[in-house]
Order: sequence, then structure tokens, then C-alpha cells
Amino acid sequence: MKRDFIHITDFSGDEIRELLALAAEVKGRLKRGEDFRPFGGMTMAMIFAKPSARTRVSFETGFYRLGGHALYLNPKDIEVGKREAPKDIARVISRFNDLLMARLFDHEHILEFARYADIPVINGLTDYNHPCQIMADIFTISEHLERIEDVKIAYVGDGNNIVHSWLRLAARIPLAFTCACPPGYEPDADTVALAREAGLSRIEITHDPRAAVRDADIIYTDVWASMGQKHEFDERVKRFQGFQVDAALMAATGKKTLFMHCLPAQRGVEVTDEVLESEASIVFDQAENRMHAQNAIMLKVTGKA
Ligand code: CP
Ligand code: NVA
Repeated sequence: MKRDFIHITDFSGDEIRELLALAAEVKGRLKRGEDFRPFGGMTMAMIFAKPSARTRVSFETGFYRLGGHALYLNPKDIEVGKREAPKDIARVISRFNDLLMARLFDHEHILEFARYADIPVINGLTDYNHPCQIMADIFTISEHLERIEDVKIAYVGDGNNIVHSWLRLAARIPLAFTCACPPGYEPDADTVALAREAGLSRIEITHDPRAAVRDADIIYTDVWASMGQKHEFDERVKRFQGFQVDAALMAATGKKTLFMHCLPAQRGVEVTDEVLESEASIVFDQAENRMHAQNAIMLKVTGKA
């Protein structure tokens, strides 16, 4: 049976821990300049319906450094669901390539890719989730805190695709995860229920950012208007007043707290320049670790590890 990586919950807790160990091992090999090319002779199609810096560059660079060749297909090349049906694209790509990575709007489209492709499919973000980001984030936390279990993460902002992936991670690894968002911007209720019903983690959804961050090891935020919602930006800025991560909110944890953001950030909107540039900020470690976490995911789904 082929493996896909569409949701964090596609892997068990043990498999996630193995992936983190593999990411650390391969990161070490690359840093030491070892010649390690398990993807020699392989190709990966990367379909983008939305813009990207990190996802494109980290996948393309990572796959190349491990011996493979990645093809970038821009939003105009394929027009998923418009020029061609996802199930047809999935079967065509399967005839040429060994791996398919896609960043799409509609989550149903990535599910259809996975269902119809004969090759592993990796989700590079949809409107619903962003599992590669959260694998990179928990890997980054493991490096900084030397543990992942029971870490307290306070997410302040929109209950979006990033939050859905955190909630799915919390269904596999014990965490204390709180999301503080304005009323009406809560994460998907079914995903909150899935995380709670797994019975491993403490999950809180609140409208009070100050209460949410108390005792937090990590404060995490993301843009207030995601790709596909940019026309709502002005309205959202009004609704999200009081949800900016600033120095006062960082201090309100009552302990040493790290700041995380998946990037790109809108400086002065969801986070101040001061916090983004502070000692507490580990956003560029997160960005680098996209490549290392994804290398581990690609090795796993292709059966090369
Ligand atoms: N964090 C992230 O996925 O960045 P890009 O949108 O630039 O790929
Ligand atoms: N929530 C953001 C994440 C970008 C990496 C978006 O979907 O635009």
C-alpha cells in the first residue's frame, strides 16, 4: 500500500517520533556534506495553485540534495479543477513521476490526488491544513526544548489551516495546545473534537489571548488573512484588534517563551517587528527545518527509510 502525507494523523505517534529522529539524522548528514543520494534517478512533480517561497524552495532543494529532480508547476500551468480534473492530473503525473507534492485551495482536491495517484502524494498546504509546516515546527521545538511531550503552545490569531494541523498533531502526541482567536474565527469544530477525543492532549479554544499565553513555552501566530482571504483583510484587522503578538503578550507568559511563526509574516499586523527580531524568535530555524522535516517525510513515503 502506498503512503501519502495529507494529514499529520496519517502517521501514528511512534511514526512521528521516528520521522523527527530521521529528520535530525539527515540534517546532520547534509550539514557534514556527506554524499547521500537516496532519490538518485527519481523525479517529483510539485503543483502550486498558490504562491510560495519556503515550500517551493525547501522541497526543490531538499529533493535535489538527496539526488532527485523536482519539477515546479506554477498556478497557471495546471489550473487544478479548472483546466483539468484532479483525478486526471493524478493519473497523468503517476505515469511520469515518483512523487507528487501539491499546494492547493480546495482540500477535496488533494484527497482526490491521493485517491487516484499511484505514487505518494504530499500536502504542501490546502485551505484546511499545512502538515509539513507543523512537522517542521515540532522538529524545531524538539531542537530548542529537547522534548516535545507536554509542551505548552499558545497560538494567538486566526483558527486557520495551521491550527488544524496543530490539532491533528495533538491527536498523536501529548501537548497542551491553546488557540486564542476572535469570536467567529475558531478552528473547525470537527477537528477540535478529533483532537479532544484522542484523549492525549489538553486542548483549549478561547477568546482571551492574555489568559491563553499564561505559562506557555511557545507563542505561535500566523497571518490574519490567509491565501484566498486577502480581500477580507481590512475587516479582519478590525476584528483581530487585541490579538497582535507584542512584547507585552510575550512577557505575560510569566516564563521564558519562544516565538514562532510559519512565515510569511505581516510585520506590525499579527506580530510586532520587536518580537519577530527578538532573541525569543526562532522563525528562521523553523523555515530551515521545513527542508529537513520534509526530507524525512519524502524518505518515509517513498519507502527509502
Ligand atoms: N510557511 C510556508 O509555507 O511558506 P510559503 O507560503 O512561502 O511556502
Ligand atoms: N495560513 C497561511 C499560511 C501560509 C504558509 C495561508 O494559508 O496563507
